[in-house]
Amino acid sequence: MSTVVTSEKIPNNVDLASDKKLQRALEAWQPKFVDWWKQMGPEGFQEDDVYLRTAVSVDADGWAHYDYVKMPDYRWGIFLADPIADRKIGFGDFMGQDAWQTIPGEFRNVLRRLVVTQGDTEPASVEQQRLLGQNCPSLYDLRNLFQVNVEEGRHLWAMVYLLQSYFGRDGREEAEALLERRSGNPDKPRILGAFNEPCKHWLSFFSFTYFTDRDGKYQLLALAESGFDPLARTTRFMLTEEAHHMFVGETGLQRIIERTVELMKKNSNEDARAEGGIDLQTIQRFINFWYSVSLDLFGGEISSNAANYFASSLKGRAKEDKYDDHVALTQTMNIDVPIVESGAYKGMKTEEVPLRNAMNEVLREEYVVDSQRGLDKWNRILEKAGIAFRFKLPHRRFHRSGGIYAGLHFDTEGNPISKDVWETKKYEWIPSPADDEYVASLMTKPIFDPNEMANWIAPPPRGIKGQPVNYQYVRHEA
Ligand SMILES: [Fe+2]
Ligand SMILES: [Fe+2]
Repeated sequence: MSTVVTSEKIPNNVDLASDKKLQRALEAWQPKFVDWWKQMGPEGFQEDDVYLRTAVSVDADGWAHYDYVKMPDYRWGIFLADPIADRKIGFGDFMGQDAWQTIPGEFRNVLRRLVVTQGDTEPASVEQQRLLGQNCPSLYDLRNLFQVNVEEGRHLWAMVYLLQSYFGRDGREEAEALLERRSGNPDKPRILGAFNEPCKHWLSFFSFTYFTDRDGKYQLLALAESGFDPLARTTRFMLTEEAHHMFVGETGLQRIIERTVELMKKNSNEDARAEGGIDLQTIQRFINFWYSVSLDLFGGEISSNAANYFASSLKGRAKEDKYDDHVALTQTMNIDVPIVESGAYKGMKTEEVPLRNAMNEVLREEYVVDSQRGLDKWNRILEKAGIAFRFKLPHRRFHRSGGIYAGLHFDTEGNPISKDVWETKKYEWIPSPADDEYVASLMTKPIFDPNEMANWIAPPPRGIKGQPVNYQYVRHEA
């Protein structure tokens, strides 16, 4: 197993001390990162002690350490999953060759784009969530928010390590640029759409961590197959942390739904809003929104970039092992493609797309199935309570701004509709400004008493790492 060094400026298991040039470059980047964190990280809590887990090794049994830490002092480190001896490339044109420990020159630019695109999402989400602490529903949730935030910071470190180690001067410039773009800033936005959407309140936060972090999971799974071994090892370890982010989203939405059900029982109209809760229809609209913007993150349904990534053995499919054919040169995938004549929608035709060009869709397909699991769970709560409403994922054509359905309009069942119908009906399907305002209005008073929980969400069944739910997860002077 790799040796972990935690006594140095940058904790790591990559023997950073043996590469002085790299160590100097990363130590020069570190204060810039901390400046960015202080400026763009959680606002109003930087001096507080927070009960956080910190990655200290990649040992499956004990990779994390839990203790109080002030966020700017968090020990962001560089951890790669242990190497697999004699690892071979598992897919694409280079299938069967030894995994690459350095980057083949011809793939340098493509690979840099993959690493930068992944890296950019990490600080972006911290920026999106920076004000949420100020209207937290409990200290438990506040701590979970900060846990997600510091780990997204560590994921940025993971990508910056690759940039600084393997991409020379270009890599150093990209590492700087990752701290310069800003989520939602029209002049220097983050690279991907969903990461520029505002995350104004906790319903959006939980939807984001359920749907958008789950896109992250699938991108990481696909990169964990990479023929470029350092990328595969980095992303494999990131997945360990990512699981908690989706847990926060899934259980957060679940607790909101549980509470909504309780509040609905309090009056004869089953009106959750009348009791200061979030009604099921509003939750559904947030699901529709964050799910559809997250679907866009997978990229175009028919994509020569995707084909190129796969052919070059740089980005595979999630859990490549479960497929039989890892070269994917002879198979095809049927994709419904809209027929558009001079801007007008004329129907659908099924196109048989070479499988390599459909790799984004293959990954999206897996994501759709995985996303459904949470909804099934939440629907069981409704079923048990004798409530007829059921949550449903909208059709994948719905509300898309990337890929072959972009620019057209579809209802949540995937039926084509005109722009006029979309305009009149859209707020039945996606949150209106009034929905956002209503949800935010429930959260104007943050809860800093460990024994309290906001009215619109149920308490969790248990606390963090064996601590009670009412533990002082954040020491904050209100
Ligand atoms: Fe991440
Ligand atoms: Fe995440």
